[in-house]
Amino acid sequence: NIGTSEEEAEGNIIKTMEETDKTMVIFFGSQTGTAEDYANRLAKEATARFGLPAMVADLEEYDLSNLNELPSDKFVAFVMATYGEGEPTDNAELFFNFITDEDVTFANEQSADESPLSNLKYAIFGLGNNTYEHYNHCSRLVNKALLALGATRVGPAGEGDEGAGTMEEDYLAWKEELWTAATAEFNLKEKEYVYQPALELTELDDVSDDSVYHGEPNKNHLLHNTASQSLGAHSAHNPFPAKIVATKELFNAKDRSCIHVDIDLTGSNLTYVTGDHAAVWAPNNETEVERLLMVLGLLDKKSTAYTLKAIDPTAKVPFPVPTTYEDTVRYYLEINGPCSRQFLSTLLGFAPTPEAKKEAFRLSSDKDVFQEEISSQYLNIAQTLLLCSNGQPWDKIPFTIMIETLPRLQPRYYSISSSSQVDKKKFSITAVVESIRVPGRKEPLKGVATNYIKKLKHLMSNTVDSDKFMVDYQHEGPRGYLVDKSSDTLKMLVHIRRSNFKLPTDPTKPVIMIGPGTGVAPFRGFVHERATQARNGTPVGPMILFFGSRHPEQDFLYQEEWSEIGEQLGDKFKLVTAFSRVGNDKIYVQHKLVEYGELVSKYIDEGANFYVCGDASHMARDVSHALATIIAKYKGISEFEAEEVVKSLRVQNRYQEDVW
Ligand code: FAD
Ligand code: 2AM
Repeated sequence: NIGTSEEEAEGNIIKTMEETDKTMVIFFGSQTGTAEDYANRLAKEATARFGLPAMVADLEEYDLSNLNELPSDKFVAFVMATYGEGEPTDNAELFFNFITDEDVTFANEQSADESPLSNLKYAIFGLGNNTYEHYNHCSRLVNKALLALGATRVGPAGEGDEGAGTMEEDYLAWKEELWTAATAEFNLKEKEYVYQPALELTELDDVSDDSVYHGEPNKNHLLHNTASQSLGAHSAHNPFPAKIVATKELFNAKDRSCIHVDIDLTGSNLTYVTGDHAAVWAPNNETEVERLLMVLGLLDKKSTAYTLKAIDPTAKVPFPVPTTYEDTVRYYLEINGPCSRQFLSTLLGFAPTPEAKKEAFRLSSDKDVFQEEISSQYLNIAQTLLLCSNGQPWDKIPFTIMIETLPRLQPRYYSISSSSQVDKKKFSITAVVESIRVPGRKEPLKGVATNYIKKLKHLMSNTVDSDKFMVDYQHEGPRGYLVDKSSDTLKMLVHIRRSNFKLPTDPTKPVIMIGPGTGVAPFRGFVHERATQARNGTPVGPMILFFGSRHPEQDFLYQEEWSEIGEQLGDKFKLVTAFSRVGNDKIYVQHKLVEYGELVSKYIDEGANFYVCGDASHMARDVSHALATIIAKYKGISEFEAEEVVKSLRVQNRYQEDVW
């Protein structure tokens, strides 16, 4: 029972809703913030469009064993992401285990009560990715459990699909059906949309710069207490400014390059194990920062400090304050993501001219038009607003709308490409940097973290004007995590996330690794680890690595290292390459896998672990099928039976994926 766990959540949702006069609560289960953002949007809409006072709540913070006692005029929504191999997000784990438990018991429950939640009216939206086997597993199980407990669902069980790229439209379609059903159920009346701020912004004329946040994630960083002792554990809430030891360009082709970065964790209590992920906290690109400030009419006062206060007691101030307008958009908000059609529609009332309003309405009121003119061009919010207004600023938009609506800027994850047995305090990442050309779009599309990493690389090798760069990021003096002038080093904010992607504990077991492109990253760590073990006299089993890229002369990652390791490990290491743009035919890793089917099958019989890393959309699935084909052929069984063998390898943790 959730109420008996040591890590129990203490919040009482009935009490909180009563005290804050709320009728609706939207619980979120979120790992990277997307589900939380949808929960926030739903709450805003409930309040602004239907006058239904709504709050957002973190599942982790409430003990929901009293859901059976929630009055029936209250409305509960769950917005829950499925993560990894069908797991709930960390913050939803306790609730998920509680509600899906066959023996779930609620507060003061009568033992014979078959439908303890018969009073509960709920809505549910799941966020998932159909390229993963357990699509929306979490929300589906929660939905099933709630129905089985006698609750009444209002509207359909919504599902958003990240894999198909339709998350936003899936959400919009679901919430319209939800509101239609909720209007009847709760007798709601739709009002004209009026923005009601949840946060109050006050500019500060007289504040010492030392107390103003310029990108620091928390107070310890502001006070320069970034060493472990004063910071406590470094984590996603508390990243570490780690020294960048070296950077190297692994290749540089037209519009694409790949950068290897070595990072030092000395001075932190962070540790990693080969196969873990590193999170990189990057600031937004300066062009986009300036663009958004210009659109909002804030360029002239971009360095003005302000503070925030929650007007609504259930609203949270989302990042540390006081801070400045420019630092908000540079460090704390995801300003460069795709513009949301719903967001544009909520800004109509702030259009600078009737023409801009008309244009924004035309775009935001039609899904297909929006897709064709905005989404397909990958326009962000600032670019979209400028398009509507012909370049004129929208300076009537309150800044708090941006803070309340745009997602928090998230760290980006990278598969660690080094071995902790080689050096437990130094790790590396391998990032591919792309400048994506979109037909019809003026500027190429650039990713936030990768282009930051690229700039760091240029700065490390002095190929850019470092003064200009520092001005770019406003990181001068010891406060900045990017440039630490006292030790003349470059730093980046990082934390480590544990992963299940691990070498077998028995080093003599064979290992089969499939890693096209930057999917090879963790395997560099794996191979170095076994090479170190072999050097130290530990017997190691055979390793076969299938690497794929476009062309051996363009993007063959770590080519020299593989030859060196091959020399050290002899017949214990084999590299098989698949180059897709050499001849007329596309040769991919899965084709090579089939070619080496006999050896692969032999290794599987000998207890090998099978690893896949890289592209989740097609490659991972194709590789899984290729393995089934091999098993069918060499075991003399049907394809169907072979798929079952692959499934059982997954269950035994002998088939592991690290895909994105
Ligand atoms: P972002 O700014 O996040 O943009 C990413 C993409 O989003 C763009 O390319 C584009 O397709 C889309 N996009 C951006 N803006 C818009 C817009 N306005 N409209 C519509 N679409 C838009 N990457 C590696 O290179 N190496 C690794 O080892 C690696 N390991 C990973 C491990 C894990 C567990 C995960 C989850 C991811 C991993 N990645 C890895 C991917 C990495 O985390 C980043 O996603 C990647 O580097 C891009 O980040 P970015 O900030 O540069 O791009
Ligand atoms: P392509 O770009 O020429 O199609 C690393 O990105 C390598 O993976 C490239 O050689 C790329 O080939 C290849 N690749 C693309 N789609 C793939 C798929 N479905 N399965 C395996 N490899 C793929």
